[in-house]
Amino acid sequence: MHNRTIVIENHPENVKTKMNQTHLNFKPVGMLFAVLIALTGCTESSPDNQTNSRWNPQDWTAAQIELLEQGRTQYLQKCAACHQASGEGQATLGAPPLKGSATVTGPVEQHIDIVLKGRGNGTMPAYRKILPDNVIAEIINYERNAWGNHDPELVAPEQVKARRND
Ligand code: HEC
Repeated sequence: MHNRTIVIENHPENVKTKMNQTHLNFKPVGMLFAVLIALTGCTESSPDNQTNSRWNPQDWTAAQIELLEQGRTQYLQKCAACHQASGEGQATLGAPPLKGSATVTGPVEQHIDIVLKGRGNGTMPAYRKILPDNVIAEIINYERNAWGNHDPELVAPEQVKARRND
């Protein structure tokens, strides 16, 4: 009995069936890998595509685009709760739109002063002690170039620093 079992196990038909099973098991795994590779490709390429459509490479250098993107990230974290990601503001909070705002499209010094010192008895918080010069500069540059606003002269962290004592 024992010998006979071994013979059946090694029978070519059985070996063939086993191979087929193995083959079948591999197919879905292979497909899963293909799908994963495709997905990884998508998630890696989409932020770049979005960045390129947000900032016209004919207007900005790669280094400037990086600064504007950093400003966007900071804006979304620190300012969008009141002024909204769309820059349209929220009347219920008294937060004005920054899209097309006279301050944001006007002289940069006033823009810097409001962000450093706040306004409206703190309804617009003073960021002087909260954010460093470079982050304030990045956010201001983003605001001045988002939502259709356009100011090609980016403000430098030194300009923010210079207004801290005013
Ligand atoms: C807690 C809500 C709140 C947050 C957070 C906030 N703001 Fe404001 N912001 C306001 C309010 C309210 C005003 C209007 C104040 C006033 O004039 O009485 C304002 C006004 C402004 C103005 C002047 C707009 C104009 O047209 O006069 C600018 C510029 C501005 N905020 C930028 C920012 C930036 C940059 C950040 C993030 C670093 C930020 N705000 C975060 C509430 C907020």
